[in-house]
Amino acid sequence: MALVLPVALAAALPAGEGGGARFVRGNANGDLGLDVSDGVSIFNFLFAGGDAPPCRDAADADDDGRIIITDGIFVLNFLFLGGERPPPPSPGAPCPGADPTPDLLDCAGGEDGGPEPPEPPEPPGLVFYPAQANAPGVGARSRRPLPLDSGEYRIEAGHSFVLLVRAQSSPVTRAGFTLAAPGAPLEGNPAALRVTADGPLGDPAQGGAAPGTNLAPWFFREVDPWSDPIYLVEEAGLRVAGGGPLAPGPGLYRFTAQVIDDACAPSPERSFALRVVPSRAPEVFAWIEGGPEPAGAPAPHDPASGNARVEAESSGFLLVVEGFAQEEATVPRAAVAAPPGPVPAALRVTAVPPFSGPEGPRGDLGALFARDPAAPARFFLRAEPTGLFPALGDTALALELDLGAALAEDVGRATFTLEVRVSFPRDIRPIFNQSCGGCHEEPDPFEGLELVAPGEPALHVWRNVVNVYAAEPEIDSSAPFVVRPLFPEESYLWHKLAGTHLDPAVGGEGVRMPLDAPDGLPGEMLHRVRSWIAEGAGVD
Ligand code: HEC
Repeated sequence: MALVLPVALAAALPAGEGGGARFVRGNANGDLGLDVSDGVSIFNFLFAGGDAPPCRDAADADDDGRIIITDGIFVLNFLFLGGERPPPPSPGAPCPGADPTPDLLDCAGGEDGGPEPPEPPEPPGLVFYPAQANAPGVGARSRRPLPLDSGEYRIEAGHSFVLLVRAQSSPVTRAGFTLAAPGAPLEGNPAALRVTADGPLGDPAQGGAAPGTNLAPWFFREVDPWSDPIYLVEEAGLRVAGGGPLAPGPGLYRFTAQVIDDACAPSPERSFALRVVPSRAPEVFAWIEGGPEPAGAPAPHDPASGNARVEAESSGFLLVVEGFAQEEATVPRAAVAAPPGPVPAALRVTAVPPFSGPEGPRGDLGALFARDPAAPARFFLRAEPTGLFPALGDTALALELDLGAALAEDVGRATFTLEVRVSFPRDIRPIFNQSCGGCHEEPDPFEGLELVAPGEPALHVWRNVVNVYAAEPEIDSSAPFVVRPLFPEESYLWHKLAGTHLDPAVGGEGVRMPLDAPDGLPGEMLHRVRSWIAEGAGVD
């Protein structure tokens, strides 16, 4: 098997900007790659009257300024015996380079008039613009450039767009550009595409890109099969999702792109300005307060969780949602007229798990909210233990408010966790008493785990489970404790109840608990136990 390194078009190319002709050291015969034929061609030239190397610098594999027998040996050593890599411009680099060391050799053919280096390839053409379209490859025909206004493209913050690079290669080489393949580092050319923005795209600490970062690794490539076959048109695109890590905040951005084709010819640099204007989507806030009417004064939050927390026995509370208009856009709005002032048109609220109401569980709550007459952007819902009330434990609320515009991006979204505090003596101990008795009870509790102890205070049972090592999990288990406060996933008791104890990541054994109920505890009880752990597994 011959080892062929993808050294792009490794033929000697005439002088580039850096001065000196470009070549790949060791590629003595100037063909497409570095392989055994390069070593052989050096021996042939030296001893068998073979052709002179098209570039003598390339044949000087060890860069000692001479072409002698050691150069052929050097190439074969590198290829097959793990020997040293030829000095720069080394094989494996994305493009041929100029000789960095002065010597008497040059990149012309030998004295006997070896083959002439080829003509310089024509640089590829480049078009670069932002469009509203699906990611490359999907719906490619329906893309629309963003609106252009006095030299700038415009888009609202939070809207998605695609950065498109369209390169047309030289009619001589018909070569395209080859993006680096993350899975196969020796394939593709990491220098083939360079796209930068002068402002940050998203928060660099959260997976966004700092100004000047090359965005090429995020690009997808596609070849346009409908183009004139004399030329080869290649496109690459990057979808910047409105809510994704690369989403740019309001401001003016200058994007710049350059492509280097497979013959290592660079395109001219292209750039454009994109103004990201503030979004029309309302910013959504939610909180709980006491009644009877909303006052805009949140009840104090539990400092440990940061979430709104209520007591199950509390007399009721108001859940309030308000959408504030974001900073007015600095440009005149297009055809879609927003209503004057921050008056959201529709509110959707979903609760998981559902609230329990007189007509059964209720997960879709939006229609139950009333609008506050004193503040038109504010909606509220009254929750009472005797009527509609969240389940014990954590309820995840997803909130959506919109201004009635058609675009999905104009919807303001927020999530909110509502905690109805779980009490160990009141809400958890009865589950143990009801479902774990006999087995996890003196005189001989299974696995030494005593969950039921009539006559003992709650603290006695609590001490048996919280921050105690479980007996069954493997030594490197991700859930070594019976109960680990705040972390249900690290609590073996949770996995034994949820039936996830046999997952390889958990590393447990045995059957799902309770042993005599193969389908596990009812969902509401499971949720209660999980919430109790997630809230900190207190004992009151
Ligand atoms: C019918 C008997 C029985 C009942 C009821 C039962 N268990 Fe178990 N439990 C066992 C047995 C037997 C084992 C050990 C074998 C196994 O894990 O399959 C065990 C093991 C456990 C373990 C692992 C302990 C450790 O340290 O590794 C936990 C946690 C547990 N049970 C929790 C519970 C909970 C919580 C309940 C009640 C909701 C319950 N079990 C009800 C019989 C029972």
